[in-house]
Amino acid sequence: MKVTVSRKAHFNAAHRLYRKDWSFEKNDDVFGKCNNPNFHGHNYELIVSVTGEIDQETGYVIDMKVLKDIIRNEVEDAFDHKNLNVEVPEFKDLNPTAENIAVVIFNKIRQKLDKAMDLKITLYETPRNFVTYSGN
Ligand code: NI
Repeated sequence: MKVTVSRKAHFNAAHRLYRKDWSFEKNDDVFGKCNNPNFHGHNYELIVSVTGEIDQETGYVIDMKVLKDIIRNEVEDAFDHKNLNVEVPEFKDLNPTAENIAVVIFNKIRQKLDKAMDLKITLYETPRNFVTYSGN
């Protein structure tokens, strides 16, 4: 019997969407206002969902304190109040779109989770725009 448990988290971060190997005009065509050279910020909302068997001793899929600490260490401490392009090494050569941020978060949290558990990341960049990634 597999059950999914989820925890919400939040971080503020700035980014600019662009490719170094494209001209400003091409970046402007593709990314529009998100190519603003002075960066812009988002209030990201994150939902981390873990699916696994219920441990018969504890009744937990995962101790939420453990999941909370993983999210704090891997995401909040790394991304909150940061400029993703400039301050976060994973985005040095990777466009920090919501899609790519979700994949980076997935990969960081995946490393800290039991292999038997499944992971799904839901990342809201705005209240209306969100992406999901579960490692496929
Ligand atoms: Ni943006």
